[in-house]
Amino acid sequence: MAFPATRLRRLRQTSVLRELVRETELRVSQLVYPMFVVASGPKRTPIPELPGIDHLSIDGAVEEAGIAHGLGIPAVLLFGLPASKDPEGSGAWDDEGVIQLATRAIKSAYPDLLVITDLCLCEYTSHGHCGVLREDGVVDNDSTLELLARTAVAQATAGADAVAPSDMMDGRVGALRAALDEHGLSETPIIAYSAKFASAFYGPFRVAADSTPQSGDRKGYQMDPANALEAVREAKLDVEEGADIVMVKPALPYLDIIRRVKDETNMPVAAYNVSGEYAMVKAAAAQGLLDERAAVLETLTGIRRAGADIVITYHAKDVAKWLSQ
Ligand code: PBG
Repeated sequence: MAFPATRLRRLRQTSVLRELVRETELRVSQLVYPMFVVASGPKRTPIPELPGIDHLSIDGAVEEAGIAHGLGIPAVLLFGLPASKDPEGSGAWDDEGVIQLATRAIKSAYPDLLVITDLCLCEYTSHGHCGVLREDGVVDNDSTLELLARTAVAQATAGADAVAPSDMMDGRVGALRAALDEHGLSETPIIAYSAKFASAFYGPFRVAADSTPQSGDRKGYQMDPANALEAVREAKLDVEEGADIVMVKPALPYLDIIRRVKDETNMPVAAYNVSGEYAMVKAAAAQGLLDERAAVLETLTGIRRAGADIVITYHAKDVAKWLSQ
């Protein structure tokens, strides 16, 4: 009988030992909580596609931000559903637009809570694409940059602590940095959705944000799920253009991308555990197929282990409660 020379089980014997050698930590201070703010309507309306998440009025958003803040969550990420849409998405940069109003209201109630604004036109355009649509149905890159720049300035002027461009236009980070700097907003960080893939996992979000493209798809600007080298190029370009934090989105089918982007850029990396990833766990848990708490904590720990410093997740409030128990 040969005995094993190395016994890895020695350090797994008790929870104290396991904790002593644990390599990855999941903390509430690393979480960002996304919220959907509606220009008009009731304080809260449940979103059926995202169980546990509501459409919020401005008052509702302030209340929800207060709850997140009270749980120790450091940041919220705001998405807006405007009162009306047009082909250019002008509601995005309106000083009285839904996100600008919500940002001002939340910052005045909770100055210490970080407000990150998602920066994209798809919730504001009547056609649902993330930029200006040409006659041939293609999103025009460079005229979109101008509108995104206006939006960044409007959001930061309203008090956003960071802007997060999610449109995937070429050159947007440089354009936003220049516009912010010109307007005296050089201290506003840019959290770039650098490697954002054309994913099926945005389905519930698009219903919640009313941002499904009316024609075609987003494959002409969001990335091909098959490409990793290109994701690294995207991230490096965003860093050159001035991104302060780079993001990979979605998270679960792209854990290898999170790792590569972390290793190749050495930047703070955020990962977005998107709506479809959330909805899958909720649906399985509701059917009794999964232990929700264990599955969520394992998932988010995996995203952290892959290299994400920051995790954006609809589970944030639950996780904050579980981690404090
Ligand atoms: C806007 C945007 C999307 C998401 C975040 N910002 C949707 C899309 O690109 O269609 C998805 C987030 C989620 O699924 O939770 N461009």
